[in-house]
Amino acid sequence: MKVFITRKIQPIGKELLLKEGFEVSVFNKNRPITKDELLKKAKNADAIISLLTEKFDKEVIDQLPNCKIIANFAVGYNNIDVEYAMKKGIVVTNTPDVLTEATAETAVSLILACAKRIPEVDKFVRENKFTGWEPELFLGIELKNKTVGIIGAGRIGQETAKRIKSFGTKIVYFNRTKKNEFEKEVGAKKVSLNTLLKVSDIISIHLPLNSKTHFLLNEENMNQLKPTAIIVNTARGEIVDEKYLIKMLQKKKIFSAGFDVYENEPILNPKLFNLNNVVLLPHIGSATNETRTAIAKLATQNVIQVLKGKKPITPV
Ligand code: NAP
Ligand code: GLV
Repeated sequence: MKVFITRKIQPIGKELLLKEGFEVSVFNKNRPITKDELLKKAKNADAIISLLTEKFDKEVIDQLPNCKIIANFAVGYNNIDVEYAMKKGIVVTNTPDVLTEATAETAVSLILACAKRIPEVDKFVRENKFTGWEPELFLGIELKNKTVGIIGAGRIGQETAKRIKSFGTKIVYFNRTKKNEFEKEVGAKKVSLNTLLKVSDIISIHLPLNSKTHFLLNEENMNQLKPTAIIVNTARGEIVDEKYLIKMLQKKKIFSAGFDVYENEPILNPKLFNLNNVVLLPHIGSATNETRTAIAKLATQNVIQVLKGKKPITPV
């Protein structure tokens, strides 16, 4: 059985596959594989471990005659046409749970970095502009007694809420279904999206990207945000109308925004670079050694299960 990995991942992946006697090949360039390269390299694979940077559309899936599983090295799977893959008898798996805490920590870091203006003040100090303590130097936003709106109260949204709650905040959430346990645990209240946007001082996005969530935050509803609001996105860039958010930031219609993900990733809107009121991360939500090793292990175990004719551990 041949397994193709679309980019170098943590060594545990290859080790486990070789132990099972599978033939393993890895795309060995330090950049995402192109569509042409993917079609060429994955053609004969029985299984593929893919990154979120690879698009598995109908055209690609049609050219994977032997493929039994696409194991995504991520919890999000909007890069894969899951329905079509399933139609073709290909199992799609993702990596839920193992990356929840790491990503929630990133969301909280972004919130704090925005509230305390960390990149802006770090730059100020590096430029040797600090001339002494001042009563009004770089005033930020205090979290205590503020309302945090969680958009998408699933695994990561809930863990983010639990952490941010400890700063003395009140939690409201927007989600498809009611989360009773979560409500009990953090005293969270389910509200409509419009209410959340109106009442929240801090907003954190944790939805999956799909046709229902694309541009869920747009020109119409973002105008309801408080002028002191902070909005952070560690989910997917296309959930927010980024151009309009940038306009709001330019006009200082909100306090600041934290981005881990972007609408046209990895191409960034150049206007972002000129804004002081943004914090920009390079999609590192789950980027810790422990978590990336766990993701590699889980993606690989899914492949092993399916190639041995067993049920995958975390099917989509
Ligand atoms: P999850 O547990 O499935 O949570 C998603 C939540 O969104 C669920 O509570 C779900 O509601 C809700 N939801 C889905 N569609 C909705 C809709 N149309 N309207 C309202 N609510 C909706 O997923 P997760 O593990 O927390 O991951 C969330 C996303 O984070 C992933 O899909 C991925 O894109 C992103 N992510 C990013 C990074 C990063 O590096 N920045 C890392 C990990 C994940 P129900 O419970 O009712 O289904
Ligand atoms: C990362 O973005 C993931 O979906 O795991």
